[in-house]
Amino acid sequence: MADKYKRDFLKFLLTSPLLAAIGNAQETEDLDPDLKYILELKKLLISDPEEAINIFDLEAVARDKLPPAHYGYMATGVTDEQSQLANREGYRNLKLTARRINDVREVDTSVEIFGRTWPSPLAIAPTSSQKAFHPEGESAVAWAANKYDLLMMLSNFSSTSIEEINEIRGEPVWFQLYARAHLESSLQMLKRAERAGCEVVVLTVDLMGGGRRETLSRFIKRDTRDCVPCHGEERSPYRGRPMLDEIDVDAYIESPRLYDADLLNQIKDVTDMKLVVKGITHPDDAEKCIEHGVDGIVVSNHGGRGQVSARGTIDVLPDITTRVNKRIPVLIDGGIRRGSDIYKALALGADAVAIGRPYLWGLGSFGRPGVEKVIDILSAEFKGVMRQMGTTSIAQISASSVMKNL
Ligand code: FNR
Ligand code: LAC
Repeated sequence: MADKYKRDFLKFLLTSPLLAAIGNAQETEDLDPDLKYILELKKLLISDPEEAINIFDLEAVARDKLPPAHYGYMATGVTDEQSQLANREGYRNLKLTARRINDVREVDTSVEIFGRTWPSPLAIAPTSSQKAFHPEGESAVAWAANKYDLLMMLSNFSSTSIEEINEIRGEPVWFQLYARAHLESSLQMLKRAERAGCEVVVLTVDLMGGGRRETLSRFIKRDTRDCVPCHGEERSPYRGRPMLDEIDVDAYIESPRLYDADLLNQIKDVTDMKLVVKGITHPDDAEKCIEHGVDGIVVSNHGGRGQVSARGTIDVLPDITTRVNKRIPVLIDGGIRRGSDIYKALALGADAVAIGRPYLWGLGSFGRPGVEKVIDILSAEFKGVMRQMGTTSIAQISASSVMKNL
């Protein structure tokens, strides 16, 4: 089975726009590590998460193990994948200048957000349908988040309910909401999260549709399994989503996506939960959020899955953090794959960083131990970079240590 998936993947690669975008497959030296790993098909797969040297080792296993359509859903960006590539390019183009002659034996990576101290700036971004990657789905991720005491956001389209996840996490997670013009259903879900104890709602505003997920479409074509038992005849992407259980699903999905200023006001009116807006890429939008009482933002382009030709999130971050000027917390996600990426984001003013695909690689490869390994590796890398840079606390990380390589 696994070999067949590999063959299919190879065939896919040969026709992939990814490959076209990078030219000659032989010249892998200068490639972004994500692409390099995708192309290293002869690489030995690890059989135990403890063998992972970096997080890409888990990606390789997830790719090998998962059914093509599910792997494709995880990996896909939108249209020509350039937004996803830009997220990685942004980090690659930044270099760090270290300070020496400091005692760096003790490193403190803790950060404070909304009055709560987190031992690490690393957070779990909301991703939908995690049972498509492992039977334990969101529960495995919540166990791992509990173990490392990480901030966790749960998708509106999770395959496990918010009540179960809050229980496993041991405290309420941040609930991510997809609002639509049918406001009643959106507010109903928000109220349910509130009843489950959630104190923060994350409103995602960057998925407008209108772009094709080409990589996903190609992988679906290569998946020969019968999808009906799980997805039903209608193949609705909204099936098996506990958060939709209590709402008028048809009215919800048939109504257009709508993320305007009124929505922010309405959410603020009906709840005391903190409101975080996810998907900001422009300083004027950050300002608009603050004007409407938003409590925090996530600089994000949805991991390159929503908008075509987006700039890398790390590239848009400095203008946003400058404008926000510490009035509200700013988180960032998209393309974070290394401890050095976390460092760069914090240096450019982010209060915390979130990962999406990396922990899904952990989940898809080995379930809970895989997710834990991803967190472990990124945390260790980040701590190592803190030492290399001569910084022992997050407060000491400054923009002066980051330079664009022109
Ligand atoms: C996502 N993302 C996402 N975001 C969101 O607000 N609600 C959601 O349900 C999902 N679902 C989702 C599924 C999958 C498979 C992926 C990969 C991503 C976006 C996610 O929260 C985050 O913004 C990106 O994943 C960050 O980029 P990286 O870390 O994947 O590069
Ligand atoms: C995605 C949606 C569900 O990116 O956020 O697939």
